[in-house]
Amino acid sequence: VDRKVNLLYFSPTETTAKIVKAVAQGIGADFSVHDLTLPAGREKAAAYGQNDLVIVGVPVYGGRVPALAADYLANVKGDKTAAVFIAVYGNRHFDDALLELQTIMEGNGFTGIAAGAFIGEHSYTRKVAAGRPDESDLAIAGDFGTRIAAKLTALGSDLPAPTLAVEGKTPYKDGVKQMFIAPATSVVCTECGICADHCPTAAISFDNFKDIDAAKCILCCACIKICPVRAKSIKHPIIADITANLIAKCGSVRNEPRLFI
Ligand SMILES: Cc1cc2nc3c(=O)[nH]c(=O)nc-3n(C[C@H](O)[C@H](O)[C@H](O)COP(=O)(O)O)c2cc1C
Repeated sequence: VDRKVNLLYFSPTETTAKIVKAVAQGIGADFSVHDLTLPAGREKAAAYGQNDLVIVGVPVYGGRVPALAADYLANVKGDKTAAVFIAVYGNRHFDDALLELQTIMEGNGFTGIAAGAFIGEHSYTRKVAAGRPDESDLAIAGDFGTRIAAKLTALGSDLPAPTLAVEGKTPYKDGVKQMFIAPATSVVCTECGICADHCPTAAISFDNFKDIDAAKCILCCACIKICPVRAKSIKHPIIADITANLIAKCGSVRNEPRLFI
């Protein structure tokens, strides 16, 4: 492609990052990465021009774009900038997240070229979509990138008005509520601090890694999945219930990526 390829994503447990990178690799050009996951990545609003392609990726939270990512993306500026929208969901459904992502971005000067809903291991449990994205998912993402490059070449430098249609409904689903629940830390914690380094909301105290501010916690499970000794878990009965339901309903089905191009 003639454009500069830019990745822009929020990805606490890294499944979204893997998909967005695989799509970029399929496009076949060098790319730059703007990771919105940690607070430092959200300090300055990004802006793009007509020579850019932006691949925007978010996980699905309660059928929606995570509020933290939506708030940031609302201030990102494009100038008839080509964009690809990616939502990664934990094998339940992506509901309205892709439509919401498209609507935010196209409202800010971006033109959707393509969009995709992919599947990632569920943040809450390793028993739903375990190990995804897997090789098959990454191959689909790579091929998708190749098709995006071909579409951009065919469109040329002057993009037409946005016409991309994705799946989703308005009014959007309710999304997730602030639950004032935070992970617990077991005695196996070695106080290495990796959890605090990876918390998207700086909810984990750097003085005491067992001290997590439930008012800041978004239950993204980054700390749980990154802990080398598996010291963190969510014990709360509400989350245990949701997780048991997810395993029962979505634990043994395999959803496949959906592409809109
Ligand atoms: C708070 C929260 C809400 C979620 N809601 C949904 C959902 O509505 N549907 C779904 O299929 N997966 C849902 N998931 C699972 C994530 O979308 C999925 O695991 C995704 O791969 C995580 O992306 P990441 O690895 O980039 O953080 C949710 C996860 C969290 C933490």
